[in-house]
Amino acid sequence: MTTPLDPTVPAREQPDPGPSVANLETIVSLSKRRGFIYPSSEIYGGINAVWDYGPLGVELKNNVKRAWWRAMVQERDDIVGLDAGILMAPQVWVTSGHVASFSDPLVECQTCHRRYRLDELPGAEDLSQTELRDPDIVERRGLRCPVEAGQLSAPRRFNLMFKTYMGPVEEDAAVVYLRPETAQGSYVNFKNVQQSMRRKLPFGIAQVGKSFRNEISPGNFVFRMREFEQMEMQFFVRPDEAARHFDEWLPRRWDWYVALGANPARLRFREHAADELAHYAKKAIDIEYRFPFGWKELEGIHNRGDFDLGSHARASGENLEYFDPATEEHFVPFIVETAAGGDRAPFTFLIDAYREEEVRGEKRVVLGLHPELAPYKVAVLPLLKKRPEIVELAKRLRADLAKDVMAVYDDTAAIGKLYRRQDEIGTPWCVTVDVESLEDGAVTVRDRNSMAQERVPVEGVKRLILDRLAAAREG
Ligand code: GAP
Repeated sequence: MTTPLDPTVPAREQPDPGPSVANLETIVSLSKRRGFIYPSSEIYGGINAVWDYGPLGVELKNNVKRAWWRAMVQERDDIVGLDAGILMAPQVWVTSGHVASFSDPLVECQTCHRRYRLDELPGAEDLSQTELRDPDIVERRGLRCPVEAGQLSAPRRFNLMFKTYMGPVEEDAAVVYLRPETAQGSYVNFKNVQQSMRRKLPFGIAQVGKSFRNEISPGNFVFRMREFEQMEMQFFVRPDEAARHFDEWLPRRWDWYVALGANPARLRFREHAADELAHYAKKAIDIEYRFPFGWKELEGIHNRGDFDLGSHARASGENLEYFDPATEEHFVPFIVETAAGGDRAPFTFLIDAYREEEVRGEKRVVLGLHPELAPYKVAVLPLLKKRPEIVELAKRLRADLAKDVMAVYDDTAAIGKLYRRQDEIGTPWCVTVDVESLEDGAVTVRDRNSMAQERVPVEGVKRLILDRLAAAREG
């Protein structure tokens, strides 16, 4: 698979595909109604910027994370996994630059005291990073509170890290941070992993896990949360090879989304301007997705240079240099990072999977999820729930399928309705057990996308599902 868009073309020159079939409301409502994603702590009125994954959401999310792990760790012999702690020595975040620089520009309405992220205010979206740091920018642009039209304060930097206390004493000496990125866990373990796994450059460390940011203006469903997941990989390379590795990771990461069902017309690369680069980055290109609320970052690919290992070596006193036996050189490796979102990726796949069709005069909602991502791979449905032999055979079949794949049994409606329900949650195959099944030992397998049905011997169903899953994975 090749990448259709050239990362060197400025993003604004690429065509806008327009809004997707599913607007945000459609996805939020389907997510709640069908058990994908619920507002957190809803019975208490909710908590802003945290969402809970329901029974189907947790399956979808786990499948996305598994697919990422398969592509980034399992199928590569140069990347290994890690699961570092969320809490780290506070010095890590001083050295990484997060204590000093991990902040967004905040302005406050002098009348209603609502607070806003400056670059998200109407009329401020196009401001450069330099302008966002200008103390007179609010006045010069004539920006006002979007709710009260009140006067806004000059911008001040607001640090996004959550603080808590370690141990039983609440004093400054015990302050620790909830990690705002998984990456630092990989950097401080660079030597451990390299030596214990006897790795030579280039090699990578991959992590999936929770990160926390006290975002000023969270929102747009799971797009920007205060508690979220990341899927990050740090690739340690020779400095003179960093540019090449950076260029190679761009199409690989693009292709991963497309292979799992993202619409390439809704993806684009966008390079960060010099004054937009994070404090650690030499170069950064985002893979952006056209969400219902506009083009936004889905994943960041960064050339972090020797900033991280160099800073940690200086601050900790540990030698984090690598000795290259081939050239007999000692040097601090450069890092090429691929930083994806464990919530934004499933969100994107949900949006692109959603479609509405008309079938025999009725609306059919289908989540055309890639079979590898679908929460249930197969549903087993009895045609007549009043016939105990049919129910028994269907339940036996589900139990057997469930040893290998997520399989569900449902007899709570007529067959047409049961099919529609499975279509709406993305189940790729339905198996129906009917009266003939008791005589000929065969069942009907229905395909979600084509709605085609075929008769299959009961003992052949599992093989068929596993073969089709494998074929879908191979593309
Ligand atoms: N280690 C580099 C890093 O953290 P980032 O661009 O700040 O880079 C990487 O974050 C990815 O994490 C983003 O592309 C996005 O998918 C996800 N992400 C970041 N902040 C998020 C938030 N508040 N809510 C949901 N996902 C977020």
